[in-house]
Amino acid sequence: MTETLTIPGNLNKEEKYKALLPQIKALITGENDLIANLANITSALYFGMNFFWVGFYIVKNEELVLGPFHGPVACTRIQYGRGVCGTAWKNKETIIVPDVNQFSDHIACSSETKSEIVICAIKDNTVQCVLDIDSKQLNDFDDTDKKYLEELVGRIL
Ligand code: SME
Repeated sequence: MTETLTIPGNLNKEEKYKALLPQIKALITGENDLIANLANITSALYFGMNFFWVGFYIVKNEELVLGPFHGPVACTRIQYGRGVCGTAWKNKETIIVPDVNQFSDHIACSSETKSEIVICAIKDNTVQCVLDIDSKQLNDFDDTDKKYLEELVGRIL
């Protein structure tokens, strides 16, 4: 296993994902412990993509509970249908929020977060966990993030 993931600094967003994702896939291949894999994915995305906050919320007893993450401390539990994460869970689809202040039910774990993307990990037509990524910049997420993050999240269960 490589100890450090290597991402050259001068790449655009798509090039970074293309460089990073095979390394993450290699990191989780052969390991079947979900928490261990989620932990390494958050570290790899945090350092590889320079995101402000990267973390998983795991469905437990009909609510989302904070799982492995990188970044500042975050809220622990999110109800079904609440916030960006709970809404993505309810809708079973990715949500991109260009400006969190325009998302009426946004749950602010950090006042520094300006935009956000949430991707669902689905098995047997049931959301098992969501990947939440926050940025300190407005409008930081687009279809490129959606494409590569959905591809990644599609492999974790
Ligand atoms: N903003 C999220 C809550 C989680 S934090 O961003 C880490 C939401 O509205 O669901």
